Amino acid sequence: MAELDIQTLEQKLAQRVVGHRLYYHQSLPSTMDETRRLAGKGAPEGIVVIAEDQTKGRGRFDRPWITPVGLNLAFSVLFRPEISQLPFINMAAALAVCDAVRDLTGLAPEIKWPNDVRINGKKLSGILVETELEGGKAVHAVVGIGLNVNFDPRGYAEIEDVATSLLAETGRRFDRVDALSSVLQKLDEYYTDIKATKSLTERWADRMETLGRLIQVRWKDDVIEGVADSVDDQGNLILKRPDGSSITVVAGEVTLQV
Ligand code: BTN
Repeated sequence: MAELDIQTLEQKLAQRVVGHRLYYHQSLPSTMDETRRLAGKGAPEGIVVIAEDQTKGRGRFDRPWITPVGLNLAFSVLFRPEISQLPFINMAAALAVCDAVRDLTGLAPEIKWPNDVRINGKKLSGILVETELEGGKAVHAVVGIGLNVNFDPRGYAEIEDVATSLLAETGRRFDRVDALSSVLQKLDEYYTDIKATKSLTERWADRMETLGRLIQVRWKDDVIEGVADSVDDQGNLILKRPDGSSITVVAGEVTLQV
C-alpha cells in the first residue's frame, strides 16, 4: 500500500498556517485524540495529524468511523480561534472539502446540515469538530475530516447504501496526497477569511442541499419535523414547523424527507 509522501506536502504548505507541520501515523486510536494531546503540549494551530488506520475512529454522536488502510483520508487539524469564530470553523471545513472535491473531480458536492459532504445523496466526507473551552474562551478546536477517496463502499455492507467515494462517483482513482493538499490549502484560505472577520455563512448556505427541504431532525430522543428555511450567522438551522412556527435547531441529525 503506497505511503503518503508527507515531506513534499509539508514543504509545499510550509508558509501557510494550516498544514505547516504534518504528523503521519500508520495507526492511531483516533487522530482527534492525538491532535488534542499535541494541543495540550502547546502545539501551534495549523498542525495536522493523519492516520492510515484508526482503531477507534469516531464520528458525530460517537458513532464509529471506518477508514480502510491506504484508500481514504483521515486527519485532524488544530485551530486556536476566538470563541466568536467557532461556528465558522465547521463551515470552513465543509466548504474546503466541497471546493477540493470540485477541483479534483468537476463534481458539485453538497452539504447536509451541519457538515456532511454528500454527492447524489450519499456521504462522501464526514467532519467532526471538538472544542475545548475555558473561562468563556476557546482553548482550541480540533477539526477531524474523513474523506472517502479510493474505497469501494460495496465492500462494506453496513454503509454501502449511504456512503460514496471519489472512486465510486467517477470510476477513477485519486492521488491521496493531491486530495489532502487541496483540502488543506482551501482550509487555510477559509481560515484566513475567518481571521479577517469575514463571515462564511452565505457561502456555506449556498452549498446546502438541506435548505427548502422537508426534514426531520433527531436530537437524542426528540424528533422534530419541518421545512429547513434558512441558517443564522452562527450556523444554526431555522426550521418552519407545520403549524407555521419557527424553531432554531442548534444540533442534531437531519434526515431529508423525499
Ligand atoms: C461524522 O460524519 O460523523 C464525522 C466523521 C469524522 C471522521 C474523522 S476521520 C479523522 C478524524 N478522526 C476521527 O476519529 N474522526 C475524524
